[in-house]
Amino acid sequence: MSTAAPPLSQAALDQITTPAYVVDMAVLKRNLATAAHIREACPCRIILALKSFALPAVFPLMRRALDGTTASGLYEARLGRESFGREVHVYSPAYTPETLRKLLFIADHIYFNSVDQIERFLPAIQTHGEDIQVGIRINPGYSKATVGGDLYDPCSPHSRFGVSRKDLDKLPWEAIDILHAHALCESLHDGSVGLIRHMGREFAPYIRRVKAVNFGGGHFINKTGYDVEALVNAIREFRAQFPVKVILEPGSGLVVDAGYLVATVLEVVHNEKDIAVLDASAACHMPDVLEVPYTPPLFGADKPGVHPHTYVLAGNTCMTGDIIGEYSFQAPLKTGDKLVFGDMLQYSFVKNNTFNGVPLPDLGLLHEDGSYEIVRRFGYDDFKRRLR
Ligand SMILES: Cc1ncc(COP(=O)(O)O)c(C=O)c1O
Repeated sequence: MSTAAPPLSQAALDQITTPAYVVDMAVLKRNLATAAHIREACPCRIILALKSFALPAVFPLMRRALDGTTASGLYEARLGRESFGREVHVYSPAYTPETLRKLLFIADHIYFNSVDQIERFLPAIQTHGEDIQVGIRINPGYSKATVGGDLYDPCSPHSRFGVSRKDLDKLPWEAIDILHAHALCESLHDGSVGLIRHMGREFAPYIRRVKAVNFGGGHFINKTGYDVEALVNAIREFRAQFPVKVILEPGSGLVVDAGYLVATVLEVVHNEKDIAVLDASAACHMPDVLEVPYTPPLFGADKPGVHPHTYVLAGNTCMTGDIIGEYSFQAPLKTGDKLVFGDMLQYSFVKNNTFNGVPLPDLGLLHEDGSYEIVRRFGYDDFKRRLR
């Protein structure tokens, strides 16, 4: 919840047609400066997890601070290759032969999830001829994800992610370049440092057989309270112990608090409570609100009952549970009011949908001089193309 005034000027707000996801370029630059500092201080490589945030319009800026991208499959890998450049890493729990064949021409780092997958596809990589680094994801047995419980804990019981410790000796270590362990989610430095030390303690014989260790994503490096120097020191300690390169692949930590979802109040209805229907929807535009679940920060508002006017904010869909949250305001809401939700870049527009034919929000940039640029506007054709 945020009682602070919206970080956009009235002039900027007036320019924005809602709904719209808006990247705050000044904050994004600050976030990227943190990543650049970590990269140099450790040193380590940092790549953007495209699953969290993928907006080619800001890739030129991100490319200057980062080493490349990591993808969850063929399409993201292609996007990384075509629109970001630099290193293209890809990890999937399972590749088909056809996907793998295509990835050989796109990715330069391919990570496998199981003994079977690496054994099946290693020959194709080795005969491909290009210099492709091979990674293996292991299950480090380290549960420190801070949100979502088992939903976002890659090491939860029966997880399909990564080779279990008991199977590690079955792997063809002579052909493996990178050991990969993703275990965090929105974790502060204690999670990052804990994972790094845990890996050093528990998997030393395997770390000594590879050239690099990838500590995955979930490092919330730009979140208030994250001690960046603690991460830097942990990586330095790790590198002093093991002669390997270190890779981090955050998504959320690079874009946290760097963007907004701007919405308009369409109507106010009453059913024991005041309910404001918005042109932004939890179900369509901010699915994590329902999945995690959580109540997103809203500038100029507070928890219910703090200010005199409390409203349930809801989407303009048929889904009863399409509720963004309950908030209180200093003044009554009315049709046409604009509302600015905070921290709306990660896992928002990459996951949105057009359920009920609800229009997709614009993608826009709020530049440092206060001007607003629409990167992409969606319409009926985008809705129809996915269905016909
Ligand atoms: C393998 C892997 N790497 C990186 C990430 C990015 O995580 P985050 O956006 O929390 O930093 C994820 C998220 O699920 C992931 O599964």
